[in-house]
Amino acid sequence: MKIFVAGATGVLGRRAVPLLVKAGHDVHALARSEHGSSALRALGARAVGVDLFDADAVRHAVAGSDVVCNLATHIPATTRMAMPGAWAQNDRIRTEGSRNLVDGALASGVERYVQESIAFVYRDGKDQWIDETSPIEPVANLASATVAESHAARVTAAGATGVVLRFAAFYGPDSDATLDMIKLARRRIALGAGPRAFVSSITTDDAAGAVLASMSAPAGLYNVGDDEPVTRREFFAILAGALGVRPPRIAPAGLAKLGGAKASVLTRSQRISNRAFVDATGWAPVHRSVRQGWPFVVSAAALSDT
Ligand SMILES: NC(=O)c1ccc[n+]([C@@H]2O[C@H](COP(=O)([O-])OP(=O)(O)OC[C@H]3O[C@@H](n4cnc5c(N)ncnc54)[C@H](OP(=O)(O)O)[C@@H]3O)[C@@H](O)[C@H]2O)c1
Repeated sequence: MKIFVAGATGVLGRRAVPLLVKAGHDVHALARSEHGSSALRALGARAVGVDLFDADAVRHAVAGSDVVCNLATHIPATTRMAMPGAWAQNDRIRTEGSRNLVDGALASGVERYVQESIAFVYRDGKDQWIDETSPIEPVANLASATVAESHAARVTAAGATGVVLRFAAFYGPDSDATLDMIKLARRRIALGAGPRAFVSSITTDDAAGAVLASMSAPAGLYNVGDDEPVTRREFFAILAGALGVRPPRIAPAGLAKLGGAKASVLTRSQRISNRAFVDATGWAPVHRSVRQGWPFVVSAAALSDT
Protein backbone atom coordinates (compact mmCIF):
# COMPACT_ATOMS: atom_id res chain seq x y z
CA MET A 1 0.00 0.00 0.00
CA LYS A 2 1.06 3.59 -0.51
CA ILE A 3 1.14 5.11 2.97
CA PHE A 4 1.60 8.82 3.66
CA VAL A 5 3.04 9.48 7.14
CA ALA A 6 2.94 12.92 8.79
CA GLY A 7 5.11 13.36 11.88
CA ALA A 8 7.58 10.88 10.39
CA THR A 9 10.66 12.49 11.94
CA GLY A 10 9.35 12.50 15.54
CA VAL A 11 10.07 9.90 18.23
CA LEU A 12 7.12 7.81 17.07
CA GLY A 13 7.33 8.41 13.33
CA ARG A 14 11.00 7.53 12.94
CA ARG A 15 10.27 4.14 14.50
CA ALA A 16 7.01 3.52 12.65
CA VAL A 17 8.41 4.35 9.19
CA PRO A 18 10.98 1.50 9.03
CA LEU A 19 8.39 -0.98 10.33
CA LEU A 20 5.98 0.05 7.55
CA VAL A 21 8.77 -0.13 4.94
CA LYS A 22 9.82 -3.57 6.20
CA ALA A 23 6.21 -4.74 5.92
CA GLY A 24 6.43 -3.98 2.19
CA HIS A 25 4.62 -0.64 2.04
CA ASP A 26 5.54 2.27 -0.22
CA VAL A 27 6.02 4.93 2.47
CA HIS A 28 5.87 8.63 1.63
CA ALA A 29 6.95 10.48 4.73
CA LEU A 30 6.70 14.13 5.65
CA ALA A 31 9.86 16.02 6.60
CA ARG A 32 10.24 19.79 6.61
CA SER A 33 14.04 19.92 6.76
CA GLU A 34 16.80 18.49 4.57
CA HIS A 35 18.19 16.73 7.63
CA GLY A 36 14.79 15.06 8.24
CA SER A 37 14.40 14.17 4.57
CA SER A 38 17.75 12.42 4.35
CA ALA A 39 17.06 10.54 7.61
CA LEU A 40 13.76 9.30 6.16
CA ARG A 41 15.37 8.27 2.88
CA ALA A 42 17.91 6.27 4.90
CA LEU A 43 14.95 4.46 6.51
CA GLY A 44 13.65 3.45 3.06
CA ALA A 45 10.89 6.07 2.70
CA ARG A 46 10.35 8.77 0.06
CA ALA A 47 10.59 12.18 1.71
CA VAL A 48 7.89 14.78 1.06
CA GLY A 49 8.33 18.37 2.25
CA VAL A 50 5.07 20.10 3.14
CA ASP A 51 3.75 22.13 6.01
CA LEU A 52 0.58 20.69 7.53
CA PHE A 53 -0.94 24.18 7.63
CA ASP A 54 -0.77 24.54 3.85
CA ALA A 55 -4.06 22.87 2.87
CA ASP A 56 -3.40 22.84 -0.89
CA ALA A 57 0.09 21.41 -0.49
CA VAL A 58 -1.23 18.73 1.88
CA ARG A 59 -3.99 17.73 -0.56
CA HIS A 60 -1.42 17.46 -3.35
CA ALA A 61 1.02 15.48 -1.16
CA VAL A 62 -1.49 12.83 -0.06
CA ALA A 63 -3.05 12.35 -3.53
CA GLY A 64 -2.91 8.70 -4.57
CA SER A 65 -2.31 7.38 -1.03
CA ASP A 66 -4.12 4.28 0.20
CA VAL A 67 -3.48 5.22 3.81
CA VAL A 68 -2.78 8.51 5.59
CA CYS A 69 -1.21 8.26 9.02
CA ASN A 70 -1.01 11.39 11.18
CA LEU A 71 1.64 11.12 13.90
CA ALA A 72 2.52 14.83 13.96
CA THR A 73 2.63 16.72 17.28
CA HIS A 74 4.55 19.60 18.77
CA ILE A 75 4.67 18.73 22.46
CA PRO A 76 6.51 21.45 24.43
CA ALA A 77 9.59 20.66 26.50
CA THR A 78 8.94 19.76 30.14
CA THR A 79 10.32 23.10 31.34
CA ARG A 80 7.98 25.05 29.00
CA MET A 81 4.75 23.08 29.44
CA ALA A 82 3.18 25.48 31.94
CA MET A 83 4.11 28.63 30.00
CA PRO A 84 1.41 30.64 28.22
CA GLY A 85 1.17 29.71 24.55
CA ALA A 86 3.42 26.67 24.91
CA TRP A 87 0.77 24.33 23.50
CA ALA A 88 -0.49 26.62 20.71
CA GLN A 89 1.44 24.91 17.91
CA ASN A 90 0.45 21.46 19.11
CA ASP A 91 -3.20 22.55 19.26
CA ARG A 92 -2.94 23.89 15.74
CA ILE A 93 -1.47 20.60 14.47
CA ARG A 94 -4.25 18.59 16.12
CA THR A 95 -7.00 20.88 14.78
CA GLU A 96 -5.97 22.56 11.50
CA GLY A 97 -3.26 20.02 10.59
CA SER A 98 -5.57 17.03 11.15
CA ARG A 99 -8.38 18.76 9.28
CA ASN A 100 -6.12 19.40 6.27
CA LEU A 101 -4.89 15.82 6.23
CA VAL A 102 -8.41 14.40 6.44
CA ASP A 103 -9.66 16.76 3.74
CA GLY A 104 -6.80 15.57 1.54
CA ALA A 105 -7.38 11.93 2.47
CA LEU A 106 -11.08 12.16 1.60
CA ALA A 107 -10.36 13.98 -1.65
CA SER A 108 -8.00 11.20 -2.72
CA GLY A 109 -10.36 8.41 -1.59
CA VAL A 110 -8.06 6.71 0.94
CA GLU A 111 -8.97 3.35 2.45
CA ARG A 112 -7.67 4.21 5.91
CA TYR A 113 -6.72 7.17 8.09
CA VAL A 114 -4.81 6.70 11.36
CA GLN A 115 -4.67 9.52 13.93
CA GLU A 116 -2.42 9.65 17.00
CA SER A 117 -4.15 10.86 20.18
CA ILE A 118 -3.53 10.75 23.89
CA ALA A 119 -5.02 8.74 26.75
CA PHE A 120 -4.55 11.63 29.20
CA VAL A 121 -8.01 12.82 28.10
CA TYR A 122 -9.70 10.32 30.43
CA ARG A 123 -11.17 11.37 33.73
CA ASP A 124 -9.54 10.06 36.94
CA GLY A 125 -10.53 6.40 37.11
CA LYS A 126 -9.17 5.68 40.61
CA ASP A 127 -8.06 2.02 40.66
CA GLN A 128 -10.55 0.91 37.98
CA TRP A 129 -9.51 -0.06 34.46
CA ILE A 130 -10.21 2.60 31.84
CA ASP A 131 -11.52 1.44 28.47
CA GLU A 132 -12.66 3.36 25.41
CA THR A 133 -16.16 3.84 26.87
CA SER A 134 -14.85 5.53 30.03
CA PRO A 135 -15.69 9.23 30.42
CA ILE A 136 -13.24 11.82 29.19
CA GLU A 137 -12.46 15.21 30.70
CA PRO A 138 -9.62 16.76 28.69
CA VAL A 139 -7.79 19.68 30.31
CA ALA A 140 -7.26 22.75 28.11
CA ASN A 141 -4.03 21.60 26.42
CA LEU A 142 -5.50 18.23 25.48
CA ALA A 143 -8.91 19.25 24.16
CA SER A 144 -7.43 19.60 20.68
CA ALA A 145 -6.76 15.84 20.68
CA THR A 146 -10.51 15.26 20.66
CA VAL A 147 -10.80 17.59 17.65
CA ALA A 148 -8.22 15.46 15.81
CA GLU A 149 -10.24 12.38 16.79
CA SER A 150 -13.39 13.93 15.33
CA HIS A 151 -11.59 14.45 12.00
CA ALA A 152 -10.70 10.73 11.95
CA ALA A 153 -14.38 9.98 12.56
CA ARG A 154 -15.20 11.93 9.36
CA VAL A 155 -13.21 9.31 7.43
CA THR A 156 -15.31 6.50 8.91
CA ALA A 157 -18.51 8.45 8.26
CA ALA A 158 -17.45 8.71 4.59
CA GLY A 159 -17.27 4.90 4.35
CA ALA A 160 -13.49 4.38 4.79
CA THR A 161 -11.67 3.29 7.96
CA GLY A 162 -10.80 5.95 10.52
CA VAL A 163 -8.61 4.72 13.39
CA VAL A 164 -7.64 6.69 16.49
CA LEU A 165 -4.80 5.54 18.74
CA ARG A 166 -5.08 7.02 22.22
CA PHE A 167 -1.51 6.50 23.40
CA ALA A 168 -0.44 6.24 27.03
CA ALA A 169 2.64 8.28 28.06
CA PHE A 170 5.62 7.60 25.80
CA TYR A 171 9.03 6.76 27.18
CA GLY A 172 12.07 6.01 25.08
CA PRO A 173 15.83 6.59 25.02
CA ASP A 174 15.63 9.52 22.58
CA SER A 175 12.50 11.16 23.97
CA ASP A 176 13.32 14.57 25.44
CA ALA A 177 10.55 14.15 28.02
CA THR A 178 12.07 10.82 29.12
CA LEU A 179 15.56 12.28 29.36
CA ASP A 180 14.19 15.14 31.48
CA MET A 181 12.41 12.63 33.72
CA ILE A 182 15.62 10.63 34.14
CA LYS A 183 17.61 13.78 35.02
CA LEU A 184 15.01 14.76 37.64
CA ALA A 185 14.83 11.22 39.06
CA ARG A 186 18.61 11.28 39.57
CA ARG A 187 17.98 14.35 41.73
CA ARG A 188 15.16 12.45 43.47
CA ILE A 189 12.43 14.62 41.94
CA ALA A 190 9.27 12.97 40.60
CA LEU A 191 6.92 14.61 38.12
CA GLY A 192 3.27 14.35 39.14
CA ALA A 193 1.63 13.75 42.48
CA GLY A 194 -0.44 11.08 44.17
CA PRO A 195 1.57 7.96 45.06
CA ARG A 196 -1.39 5.59 44.67
CA ALA A 197 -2.58 6.98 41.32
CA PHE A 198 -2.08 4.67 38.34
CA VAL A 199 0.13 5.80 35.46
CA SER A 200 -0.03 4.19 32.02
CA SER A 201 3.00 4.04 29.76
CA ILE A 202 4.21 2.71 26.44
CA THR A 203 7.74 2.53 25.08
CA THR A 204 8.18 4.43 21.82
CA ASP A 205 9.20 1.11 20.19
CA ASP A 206 5.94 -0.53 21.22
CA ALA A 207 3.95 2.54 20.15
CA ALA A 208 5.51 2.21 16.68
CA GLY A 209 4.55 -1.46 16.60
CA ALA A 210 0.98 -0.37 17.34
CA VAL A 211 1.05 2.01 14.34
CA LEU A 212 1.98 -0.94 12.12
CA ALA A 213 -0.76 -3.06 13.72
CA SER A 214 -3.30 -0.27 13.18
CA MET A 215 -3.08 -0.97 9.43
CA SER A 216 -5.41 -3.92 10.03
CA ALA A 217 -7.61 -2.46 12.78
CA PRO A 218 -11.33 -2.03 12.19
CA ALA A 219 -12.54 1.58 12.30
CA GLY A 220 -12.68 2.96 15.82
CA LEU A 221 -10.91 4.44 18.77
CA TYR A 222 -8.36 2.37 20.69
CA ASN A 223 -6.28 2.80 23.83
CA VAL A 224 -2.62 1.87 23.33
CA GLY A 225 -0.66 1.33 26.50
CA ASP A 226 1.37 -1.47 28.04
CA ASP A 227 -0.26 -4.46 29.73
CA GLU A 228 0.38 -3.50 33.33
CA PRO A 229 -0.01 0.12 34.41
CA VAL A 230 1.58 0.68 37.83
CA THR A 231 1.05 3.19 40.60
CA ARG A 232 3.10 6.38 40.51
CA ARG A 233 5.05 5.18 43.56
CA GLU A 234 5.97 1.93 41.75
CA PHE A 235 6.74 3.79 38.52
CA PHE A 236 9.37 6.00 40.14
CA ALA A 237 10.72 3.20 42.35
CA ILE A 238 11.31 1.09 39.21
CA LEU A 239 12.94 4.02 37.40
CA ALA A 240 15.14 4.75 40.43
CA GLY A 241 16.10 1.06 40.59
CA ALA A 242 17.12 1.11 36.93
CA LEU A 243 19.23 4.22 37.59
CA GLY A 244 20.72 2.85 40.81
CA VAL A 245 19.51 5.79 42.89
CA ARG A 246 17.10 6.11 45.81
CA PRO A 247 13.43 6.56 44.81
CA PRO A 248 12.09 10.11 44.88
CA ARG A 249 9.38 11.13 47.31
CA ILE A 250 5.98 11.40 45.61
CA ALA A 251 3.97 14.46 46.60
CA PRO A 252 0.47 13.83 47.91
CA ALA A 253 -2.27 14.29 45.29
CA GLY A 254 -3.77 17.21 47.23
CA LEU A 255 -0.65 19.31 46.68
CA ALA A 256 -0.96 19.35 42.87
CA LYS A 257 -4.71 19.97 43.13
CA LEU A 258 -3.75 23.43 44.40
CA GLY A 259 -2.52 24.04 40.83
CA GLY A 260 -6.12 23.95 39.54
CA ALA A 261 -7.71 22.15 36.59
CA LYS A 262 -4.64 22.23 34.32
CA ALA A 263 -2.49 20.55 36.98
CA SER A 264 -5.07 17.80 37.47
CA VAL A 265 -3.47 15.87 34.62
CA LEU A 266 -0.45 15.43 36.91
CA THR A 267 -2.52 13.70 39.57
CA ARG A 268 -5.14 11.71 37.68
CA SER A 269 -5.22 7.98 38.17
CA GLN A 270 -5.37 6.36 34.73
CA ARG A 271 -5.22 2.60 34.55
CA ILE A 272 -5.59 2.31 30.79
CA SER A 273 -6.73 -1.00 29.29
CA ASN A 274 -5.28 -2.00 25.90
CA ARG A 275 -7.71 -4.94 25.60
CA ALA A 276 -9.75 -3.64 22.64
CA PHE A 277 -6.65 -2.95 20.51
CA VAL A 278 -5.03 -6.28 21.41
CA ASP A 279 -8.25 -8.13 20.52
CA ALA A 280 -8.70 -6.19 17.27
CA THR A 281 -5.15 -6.52 15.93
CA GLY A 282 -3.19 -9.17 17.84
CA TRP A 283 -0.63 -6.49 18.78
CA ALA A 284 1.23 -7.08 22.05
CA PRO A 285 3.79 -4.80 23.68
CA VAL A 286 7.33 -6.20 23.95
CA HIS A 287 7.76 -4.26 27.20
CA ARG A 288 4.70 -5.43 29.10
CA SER A 289 5.27 -2.94 31.91
CA VAL A 290 7.80 -0.40 33.12
CA ARG A 291 9.36 -3.27 35.09
CA GLN A 292 10.94 -4.43 31.81
CA GLY A 293 10.72 -1.09 30.00
CA TRP A 294 12.65 1.19 32.36
CA PRO A 295 15.80 -0.99 32.54
CA PHE A 296 15.75 -1.21 28.72
CA VAL A 297 15.21 2.53 28.20
CA VAL A 298 17.73 3.61 30.86
CA SER A 299 20.46 1.41 29.43
CA ALA A 300 19.68 2.44 25.83
CA ALA A 301 19.70 6.13 26.86
CA ALA A 302 23.04 5.68 28.61
CA LEU A 303 24.52 3.98 25.54
CA SER A 304 23.35 6.76 23.24
CA ASP A 305 24.93 9.29 25.66
CA THR A 306 28.42 7.85 25.14
N1 LIG B 1 1.83 9.97 24.03
C1 LIG B 1 2.86 10.71 24.44
O1 LIG B 1 3.27 10.65 25.61
C2 LIG B 1 3.61 11.61 23.47
C3 LIG B 1 3.16 11.82 22.15
C4 LIG B 1 3.93 12.63 21.29
C5 LIG B 1 5.11 13.20 21.76
N2 LIG B 1 5.49 12.98 23.06
C6 LIG B 1 6.74 13.57 23.59
O2 LIG B 1 6.90 14.89 23.11
C7 LIG B 1 8.28 15.16 22.92
C8 LIG B 1 8.50 15.70 21.51
O3 LIG B 1 8.12 14.70 20.56
P1 LIG B 1 8.89 14.53 19.18
O4 LIG B 1 10.35 14.39 19.46
O5 LIG B 1 8.21 13.45 18.42
O6 LIG B 1 8.77 15.93 18.44
P2 LIG B 1 7.60 16.87 18.05
O7 LIG B 1 8.15 18.23 18.12
O8 LIG B 1 6.36 16.58 18.85
O9 LIG B 1 7.38 16.53 16.46
C9 LIG B 1 6.75 15.36 16.03
C10 LIG B 1 6.59 15.35 14.53
O10 LIG B 1 5.61 16.30 14.08
C11 LIG B 1 6.12 17.00 12.96
N3 LIG B 1 5.53 18.36 12.82
C12 LIG B 1 5.40 19.28 13.77
N4 LIG B 1 4.83 20.40 13.27
C13 LIG B 1 4.60 20.18 11.95
C14 LIG B 1 4.04 20.93 10.87
N5 LIG B 1 3.55 22.17 11.05
N6 LIG B 1 3.99 20.39 9.64
C15 LIG B 1 4.48 19.16 9.44
N7 LIG B 1 5.00 18.36 10.41
C16 LIG B 1 5.06 18.88 11.66
C17 LIG B 1 7.62 17.07 13.21
O11 LIG B 1 8.26 17.35 12.00
P3 LIG B 1 9.62 18.23 11.90
O12 LIG B 1 10.75 17.25 12.09
O13 LIG B 1 9.57 18.79 10.54
O14 LIG B 1 9.55 19.24 13.01
C18 LIG B 1 7.89 15.67 13.74
O15 LIG B 1 7.97 14.76 12.69
C19 LIG B 1 9.05 13.87 23.19
O16 LIG B 1 9.60 13.94 24.46
C20 LIG B 1 7.95 12.80 23.11
O17 LIG B 1 8.23 11.68 23.93
C21 LIG B 1 4.77 12.21 23.90
